Amino acid sequence: MYRLVYKSRSAGVIDWDTVEAIMHSSEANNDHNEISGTLLASRTHFLQIIEGKYEDVNDTFMRICHDKRHTRIQLIAFHPVDARLFDGWNMKGIGVFDFNQDIEQTMIEKYGTEEQGVKFPLEEWMVLAMVQDISLYLNIPEWKQ
Ligand SMILES: Cc1cc2nc3c(=O)[nH]c(=O)nc-3n(C[C@H](O)[C@H](O)[C@H](O)COP(=O)(O)O)c2cc1C
Repeated sequence: MYRLVYKSRSAGVIDWDTVEAIMHSSEANNDHNEISGTLLASRTHFLQIIEGKYEDVNDTFMRICHDKRHTRIQLIAFHPVDARLFDGWNMKGIGVFDFNQDIEQTMIEKYGTEEQGVKFPLEEWMVLAMVQDISLYLNIPEWKQ
């Protein structure tokens, strides 16, 4: 089992339509390849965790890299893991831009800000901390703590 984490800059301003369109183009592939993970979206950036077998994670990432909907793709981590963090779905899309102001402010205080939104980190441990914070804010029961 492998985990890959990357951050990218969106080509346009991100809203729920953007996230849903990406989820739509991913769903069948992720299902077929047994890929799980999460896609966090601010108004300007994506932060994605992809889990699965080496070849499947690699192939998925290669496809994603060629997608014109984002640029400046920064690989944060790609390594073997003992188990999936995200077992419940294939890919959970989370609109960080849609969080209430209190939660957004708390996240900005902890993780900093970029382009008026929450800054997505470039260190894996911090990405995992952010994911854990979000699972608590949103009360996502399937998320393993
Ligand atoms: C930010 C972002 C995240 C994406 N995540 C996935 C993903 O998890 N799985 C996937 O198959 N495609 C994902 N895509 C879409 C791929 O880039 C590509 O459009 C899709 O895999 C093409 O599938 P198809 O060749 O079967 O039509 C993502 C695209 C973007 C911009």
